Amino acid sequence: MKALCWHGKEDVRIDTVPDPKIQEQGDVVVRITATAICGSDLHLYGGFQPTMKAGDVLGHENMGEVVEVGSSVRKLKKGDRVVVPFTISCGACWFCRRGEFSMCDTSNPNAEMARLAMGQSPAGLFGFSHMLGGFSGGQAEYLRVPFADVGPIKIESDLRDDQVLFLSDIFPTGYMAAENAGIEPGDTVAVWGCGPVGQFAIQSAWMLGAGRVIAIDRVAERLRMAEQKGRAETINFDDLKVYDRLMELTRGRGPDRCIDAVGAEAHVGATIDAVVDQVKVAVRLGTDRPHVLREAIMCCRKGGTISIPGVYIGIVDKIPFGAAMNKGLTFRMGQTHVQKYLAPLLARIEEGAIDPSFVITHRLKLDEAPAAYETFRDKKDGCIKVMLTP
Ligand SMILES: NC(=O)c1ccc[n+]([C@@H]2O[C@H](COP(=O)([O-])OP(=O)(O)OC[C@H]3O[C@@H](n4cnc5c(N)ncnc54)[C@H](O)[C@@H]3O)[C@@H](O)[C@H]2O)c1
Ligand SMILES: [Zn+2]
Ligand SMILES: [Zn+2]
Repeated sequence: MKALCWHGKEDVRIDTVPDPKIQEQGDVVVRITATAICGSDLHLYGGFQPTMKAGDVLGHENMGEVVEVGSSVRKLKKGDRVVVPFTISCGACWFCRRGEFSMCDTSNPNAEMARLAMGQSPAGLFGFSHMLGGFSGGQAEYLRVPFADVGPIKIESDLRDDQVLFLSDIFPTGYMAAENAGIEPGDTVAVWGCGPVGQFAIQSAWMLGAGRVIAIDRVAERLRMAEQKGRAETINFDDLKVYDRLMELTRGRGPDRCIDAVGAEAHVGATIDAVVDQVKVAVRLGTDRPHVLREAIMCCRKGGTISIPGVYIGIVDKIPFGAAMNKGLTFRMGQTHVQKYLAPLLARIEEGAIDPSFVITHRLKLDEAPAAYETFRDKKDGCIKVMLTP
């Protein structure tokens, strides 16, 4: 089959690779009908994520049609139309039983590698390095899906692929970010990053009772989407000092809830900390550029919450932890427990409360994926979200 393979930093190619097969009796094979490029893929593309190998197939936002079924699979049959969560989870371990699917204790065959880096291993993820399982992703014609009775959700209505595809990741991710923020009715919620995850965090903040949403970015069309689709007030961090503007907007108190939907690759504004981060990453003295995390800690109101859906990878430094401690902040974060959100968020789409296809700016063929990675990373051509079809 054809698949988008990682070959090194900023080098992804369409290769011909062997078709996936059933390996465990709980697997299914899905013929991909739609897949997408995620901000998380950019960390792989940029060479930030360790334990990638040349030839790894990327892609963790996937859906399609079940074409092969392992003998122990009960819930799915050939021909079913499914959306596949990016988190691979067994459904039976202590964490899965608590609904903490991204912390599954059994789905990562390379758990030892992750344990060395993190103390304990999180779940395996599709298309996301060997440390996180070495599972092939779905920017391809076919995808092997382990634990098929636990992960995929069947789509039985006539919703289009572009309306349900983002249940695989970014809609639940934005939603869990808003949930983790602990929004109380009327709260002011600040969202750093107006990429796809930020857009769904904005939508979800309203669903969970925010009184006001303020979104921060510097890309004009992303800010415009946050205003028009997300009814957010916006701050362009190239034009204004984010701290000063947030204090102005909240009469000096600071936002109640702060969501970092940017993560490890924050862009360099005119601040010294961001410049230092970039230099350190360039000379491999650090792995992450945590400018947004620092800014959120400084801006958040006393006793507020910092929710972090943005991905961090390794060591972050110069975090104003004293500010966080003395201001009594709460931190919540993590890879999304996608399985937990599939049914309730599908219901929101079905009842017409949200149509997630609003984020798509580019609909391309899988063959065009290598160029699309560059377009998406550089935010060229108004690119906010790329959907690919094989
Ligand atoms: N927790 C999870 O399970 C999960 C799932 C999906 C994505 N993610 C992560 O969420 C993050 C966002 O993903 P995305 O797809 O929206 O990516 P994206 O790269 O399209 O969006 C990031 C946005 O942040 C903006 N930004 C950069 N520096 C900034 C700054 N200093 N202040 C404010 N905004 C700034 C960029 O302009 C961009 O619009 C990534 O780190 C991604 O890995 C996490
Ligand atoms: Zn993702
Ligand atoms: Zn599990």
